[in-house]
Formats: sequence, C-alpha cells, structure tokens
Amino acid sequence: MSKQHPIGIFDSGIGGLTVANAIFDLLPSEHLIYFGDTAHIPYGTKPASQIHQFSIDICRFLIEDQHCKAVVVACNTASAAALPQMREHWPDIPIIGMEPAVKPAVAATQSHKIGVLATAGTFGSERYDRLVQRFAKATEVFENPCIGLVEKIEAGLQDAPETQFLLQQILHPMLLEGVDTFVLGCTHYPLLHTQIQAVVGHDKHLIDPAPAVARQLQRRLQALDLLRIEAPNAPHQFYISKMDLAFAQTLKRHAKAPYTLSELAPSSVFSSLN
Ligand code: DGL
Repeated sequence: MSKQHPIGIFDSGIGGLTVANAIFDLLPSEHLIYFGDTAHIPYGTKPASQIHQFSIDICRFLIEDQHCKAVVVACNTASAAALPQMREHWPDIPIIGMEPAVKPAVAATQSHKIGVLATAGTFGSERYDRLVQRFAKATEVFENPCIGLVEKIEAGLQDAPETQFLLQQILHPMLLEGVDTFVLGCTHYPLLHTQIQAVVGHDKHLIDPAPAVARQLQRRLQALDLLRIEAPNAPHQFYISKMDLAFAQTLKRHAKAPYTLSELAPSSVFSSLN
C-alpha cells in the first residue's frame, strides 16, 4: 500500500457522511471511497449475522477491489457485528471502528445520568455491554433504540413534523430522568444535531464521536507512514448499492468536499448474491 491509495469508508446509508466530513476537515489531502449500503438499510434492526456478512463483503470490496489503504467502519452497528473479524481477515490494513461515545459522556455528565441513542443492533452487542461495564459503572445509562429514526433521516425528513414528534418521544423521558449528556451512538444521528439540541436545550451536551474517529485514523496512518501529502486531483467517490434521490439530496446538502455519486450493482459487492 502507498500513501496515494484511497481510504475506504462505509455505512448502511448516509450516516457515514458525518464521519466522512470529519475526515475531510482533518485530512483534506486524503481521497475517500464511500460505500453506502442503501439496498440493505436499515442495519440496526437486522440480525447481527447478516450485518456481519454485509460488512465483510463491503470491506473486501474496499480493500481488494478498490485498493484502499485503510477502512473506516462509519457505522456503530456494523462495528458491533463484525469489527474483530474484519481485522482478522485483513491484519495489515488499519480498520477503524466506532462505538457509542460512552466514555466521553461519563466524563462530561454532571448529573451522572447519560442518554445513549443507538440502534437495537448496537445495544444487543457484546461490544456495547463491555463498554458500559468498563466506563459507566457509577453512571446511570438510559438507552433508546430510536426505532424509525434512521429511516426518517435516510428519507431526508430531518425537518418533518413526524421526525420532531419522534425525537420528543425519545428524548423527553430521558430529560425527565435528569439526563444532561446525550451520546449520538449511530452515525445518522448527527445529521439531526440541530433538531436534537432544540428538543433537549442548549445547556445539554451532545456527543458525536466523528472527530475522534478522524483523529484515530490520522494516528494510525501516521504510524504507518501512510498519510497522503498532496491533495487528490479527483473528487471523492460515493457508491451506493441502490440509487436513492433522498441520499443524493442529503449528500448535496451536507458534504463538505467535492464528490461523485454512482450506483453499484449489489452483486459486484455481496458474495451471497453471486
Ligand atoms: N448508521 C448506522 C450506525 O451507526 C446504522 C443505521 C442503520 O440502522 O442502518 O449504527
């Protein structure tokens, strides 16, 4: 692998853009290849074994077909389902995963009560259990799997009244319990940062791990002398497994760097379909 090679990044859909943007900010010389698995979204309510298989297939596509020098799993659910196995398959490639930012939330809370917003898949994982056991022993943790929220974001309904209603249903019980710090434990949720902050109030902390993930990627690339120096001359490449107008619109509205967007036939990525 050389410095010139791209960085691969993937999510079930548009959520990974919140992590891609943090990478664009911190590492503007890098070239990204993004895969959004819009044919299979949502991941959060599917069995872990299925998400495991999708994740391995996407990782293979990014590393073996696209020659990525590193992969960012910009999805808490996929990280919970398959991170150790991805690292085992490709031990020479830095694979950066995600997990709900429980540790920084515990450090930030004054009420000793934190709220974690993540998917059912993330909450059901051993990785999440270990995280809470390790860092939140003396903190009360309130969890909500935010059923239907990913679909609203994916459909571009950030400002719709039904999204506002759903957020109130999720957040009000936590506020009544005295939660003062909220973990955005799914990469889609920072796309609702403004709306969530409006519901909980500006005196509450929202924790988005994306900048920390970008810094971790930088450290790993630096350690392997793989940081790219000159800016890429091609736009970042976004692939999705099913063309979707709302994805295209949200990307256009929020992407912080130039890109191209194309649909990729699922059979060229997913082994189970061949
Ligand atoms: N964005 C993903 C995450 O961080 C999951 C969304 C989904 O359910 O597909 O967990």
